[in-house]
Amino acid sequence: MRSYGKSRKFPLVVSTLAMALGLVAGLPTTGQEAGPVSRDLTPKLRNLLRQEMLSIEQASKDIFSALIAGDDARVAGLAQQIHDSFILQQSMTSEDKQNLMAAVPEDFVARDRAFHALSADLAQAGRDGDRDAQHAEFGRMVEACTACHARYATDRFPLLAE
Ligand code: HEC
Repeated sequence: MRSYGKSRKFPLVVSTLAMALGLVAGLPTTGQEAGPVSRDLTPKLRNLLRQEMLSIEQASKDIFSALIAGDDARVAGLAQQIHDSFILQQSMTSEDKQNLMAAVPEDFVARDRAFHALSADLAQAGRDGDRDAQHAEFGRMVEACTACHARYATDRFPLLAE
């Protein structure tokens, strides 16, 4: 795992390493700075993040369609696509990565990593043809989207603010 700072690690690409599974359970939810992260990002980073979000939303909708059709292979392919975070990997320079790390709290990084680990689990459930597991993992992914938005994107999704 590459490390770019003392206590922060680059989230959106390194997450493909998905060592997150073990970390998530012990994730601290207090003592972290919550609040919208978008305004702390450079315009380029904000744009990259939004592009990624729009792609994973589209992929999630497509996964739903594949799930209700029993198309295991398509579920696997789409979940893998989310996991691989293609846009960010293609567009980010190492300076972008450092800027991103400087701008977001560690908890955000951990949530992103956990989210990507979930997409890997969903891809595996698709490859296994295990539909119960696909439904469970998809539900967990929706929870992960919402939880991160409620904590870090209430400027974009004000209804999630308490
Ligand atoms: C680790 C945190 C995190 C996770 C997990 C996450 N998001 Fe987001 N998402 C954000 C942030 C932060 C924004 C606000 C970006 C902005 O406004 O600049 C956002 C914005 C969005 C947007 C609005 C994009 C736009 O510009 O209109 C969509 C759609 C979206 N997310 C979909 C999803 C979906 C679907 C999932 C799960 C499958 C998900 N997100 C998971 C952090 C996250």
